[in-house]
Amino acid sequence: MLCRPPAAYEYRGWHNGIVVIVRRLETDDYPFLQEFLYQAIYVPPGEPAPDRSLLRDPEISVYIDGFGHQLGDLGVIAESDGRPIGAAWARRIPGYGHIDANTPELAISVIPEFRGRGVGTKLMGALFTELTAAGEHRISLSVQTDNPAVRFYERLGFQVVNEQLDHAGHEDFLMVKQLGSAQRTSARDWRGASFGAAVVPNSA
Ligand SMILES: CC(C)(COP(=O)(O)OP(=O)(O)OC[C@H]1O[C@@H](n2cnc3c(N)ncnc32)[C@H](O)[C@@H]1OP(=O)(O)O)[C@@H](O)C(=O)NCCC(=O)NCCS
Repeated sequence: MLCRPPAAYEYRGWHNGIVVIVRRLETDDYPFLQEFLYQAIYVPPGEPAPDRSLLRDPEISVYIDGFGHQLGDLGVIAESDGRPIGAAWARRIPGYGHIDANTPELAISVIPEFRGRGVGTKLMGALFTELTAAGEHRISLSVQTDNPAVRFYERLGFQVVNEQLDHAGHEDFLMVKQLGSAQRTSARDWRGASFGAAVVPNSA
């Protein structure tokens, strides 16, 4: 476990009818990431949920394997009534939303019965605060173009910088958000840049 500064953000309060606590992800929380990673896999309406064995795919497991032991690993978790209900985390990995070696990539999910109640927005605000305090300048992600989460990300300041096909032929947006003072830099600076090999699945 790497030494880290004190948490920059902690939220506790009534939120859309539920009591929510949002705090930094700690070592004891890491086992929950497996479930949150599974919940982050986008399932288009009418399609069956993927088999959980998908989590063993190295292109998927890279989002959580050994989390907490790699420089820059950072996340936040939401709890309600003592139960983890969502998490957002960032990691420097060559994942689907890879921009460059200096930009952490986002993964986020809220468990289904708590979606659409503002928990994801709270998680993202907390993660942005933690990342900015840690000196990060931007964060990237990949999301399937037909995932309603695209609107969520745009509302939070992410901008589309590229479009790419995943292994299954789905179109994904590569999105970037500038953090802190770097927010003044337009995401247009990224358009047309080379992002290396277009990456794969249906992870978002
Ligand atoms: C995306 C997600 C993290 C947002 O968290 P949330 O708590 O539902 O979000 P909030 O309530 O703060 O904001 C609502 C927004 O989330 C998005 N959203 C809501 N339900 C969603 C769902 N089932 N799937 C994807 N996005 C959803 C919408 O953009 C919505 O905005 P809108 O009402 O203007 O359309 C959460 O819905 C989720 O886990 N979805 C499934 C997994 C996923 O798609 N993860 C992103 C992979 S890139």
